[in-house]
Amino acid sequence: MVLIAPSLLSADFGRLALETAAVADAGADWLHLDIMDGHYVPNLTFGPAVVKSLRRESRLFFDAHLMVDNPDRMVPWFAEAGADLITVHAEVCPHLDKTLQTIRGLGKKAGVSLNPATSENMLEYVLDKLDLVLVMTVNPGFGGQKFLPEQLAKIRRIKKMIAGRSILIEADGGINRDTAPLCIEAGADVLVAGSAVFNGGNYVANIGALR
Ligand code: DX5
Ligand code: ZN
Repeated sequence: MVLIAPSLLSADFGRLALETAAVADAGADWLHLDIMDGHYVPNLTFGPAVVKSLRRESRLFFDAHLMVDNPDRMVPWFAEAGADLITVHAEVCPHLDKTLQTIRGLGKKAGVSLNPATSENMLEYVLDKLDLVLVMTVNPGFGGQKFLPEQLAKIRRIKKMIAGRSILIEADGGINRDTAPLCIEAGADVLVAGSAVFNGGNYVANIGALR
């Protein structure tokens, strides 16, 4: 059964706690938290203080996706703020093996994200330190972009690579009722959806349509 992780990026930022409660009530499995620093990606969202406040309001599994220049510096901030899973971008982790050990050492699940142009080969030697691989199906930075279908082949290759290990594959970007089945068929276990969940306001129907 696929897990649905609504991305708070598409929520009303003036009502984050209410939006979080609303998607939880609508059947969300996880809450996807897009952390953008305005450097690694040309957009700026929110930091650990916001995550910490939401943590007090919600029991959902917090899936923190760090799109920042220096994830090594920020991983402890989000661990302390109450993230359950911390995903870093392979492209900005020169010592990825060490970063993953740090995340697990903080008692959190460890994820690696790959941009559309990044090869899954980056993962080959860290598979035993990973809980999740996030495949970017758009270029990171903004919600509402068009799904990149060539990433489906990457999902398939990763599915083969992980062979038997309990590593989840998460697809992020441009997921809607048309692209969700393609990702599931390719082997995705978790679907992130921003606009497809929040647009229109009927969160129950929107989440249901993705499953
Ligand atoms: C993009 C983010 C995504 C984004 C997805 O950089 O990582 O999580 O919120 O938004 P949609 O689902 O609208 O493509
Ligand atoms: Zn994301």
